Amino acid sequence: MSEEPDRTTRRFLTPPVRQVHAHLRERMETLGMAVRVDAAGNLRGVWQPANAAGKRLLTGSHIDTVPDAGAYDGVLGVVLALEWVELARESKAPYAVEVIAFSEEEGVRFGVPFLGSRAVAGRFDTSLLTLKDGDGRSLEDVLRGFDLDPQQMSEAEVKDDAIGFVEVHIEQGPVLEAEELSVAAVTGVVGQSRLALEFAGQANHAGTTPMKLRHDALAGAAEWIGAVERLALQTDGLVATVGKIAASPNAGNVIAGTARLTLDVRHAHDAIRLGSVEELIESANGIAARRGLAVQSTKSLDQPAVSMDERLTAFLTESIVAEGHPGKQMFSGAGHDAMVMAARVPTAMLFLRSPGGVSHNPAETVRIEDAEAALHVGRRFLERLAAEFR
Ligand code: HGY
Ligand code: MN
Ligand code: MN
Repeated sequence: MSEEPDRTTRRFLTPPVRQVHAHLRERMETLGMAVRVDAAGNLRGVWQPANAAGKRLLTGSHIDTVPDAGAYDGVLGVVLALEWVELARESKAPYAVEVIAFSEEEGVRFGVPFLGSRAVAGRFDTSLLTLKDGDGRSLEDVLRGFDLDPQQMSEAEVKDDAIGFVEVHIEQGPVLEAEELSVAAVTGVVGQSRLALEFAGQANHAGTTPMKLRHDALAGAAEWIGAVERLALQTDGLVATVGKIAASPNAGNVIAGTARLTLDVRHAHDAIRLGSVEELIESANGIAARRGLAVQSTKSLDQPAVSMDERLTAFLTESIVAEGHPGKQMFSGAGHDAMVMAARVPTAMLFLRSPGGVSHNPAETVRIEDAEAALHVGRRFLERLAAEFR
């Protein structure tokens, strides 16, 4: 279910999302769940037992992907959540279970991530509606095109009956594979800054312009990208990535007049992350000044580092140990909807091993025994939670 015939790309509310919704809706209705799509495009199914006593566990993950994605980032957490509903039904859990297929976590279409979970967490700022995608369509227009009403955004907010939110997700890194572990409980998620930068110089003739007279925006950007990598290499725990770059006019015999690029900076400690961002902006200003370029930067995300809920994380860890696995706990280097939900409800995450430590790549995969482990851990977790309400 992809925008492209030969690779998996499924951005926010693009046509293949309708196929995903139809598939999940059918599975949710077979499980006796009431299904709706909220104003942010999140598909939500609720299993409501008679003895729910006004309590609801939220679980799920995102169904949007990066371009040329693997098959598990996000989607695995939604499909396993449906299996958890089946386990909750079997064990007659004394609480409702709501599965949320978040509409937008990656931030690919509009450059701003977590649009779906912001709405559920009550943090959807209406100024986001004016964001434009690569085709110049506004977020508001895209929502309306999907038969959604942005004015109803507040009805997406989680209600007070929520016990908490648990997200099952692949680790997307090398840790669990290196330690030969199936699963781990997540203790926190690193903070994340996202920016766009533009270096502006002077487009000119590649043949007639002497090197010393150039104001080459692409050469300036390239020098800065090296500085980004050097700072991250010398700062413990920092990762910094320039993942996207566009030169204009983008012709082999023209010195680039402008270079537009993205910056993604993450660290477990917000002060180090924010300080590094400032240092990299300073570095860009220095390079631009020396080369007779102009440079501007705009911040599109400043997401603080987040700790998971201790009580739910303890239940998850107990469940992992009860299933015979070491009680591994770890930080997440990837961002997740859980980091947005944690601002609103007690939140926990269960990681599955990423073979090869690869993700955001078609080679992304999951071992069947690890998916099985996530089910068995889930069954114990649901029962441990039930014990709180029996
Ligand atoms: O970029 C991330 O951390 C996540 O995969 N959205
Ligand atoms: Mn991702
Ligand atoms: Mn993800």
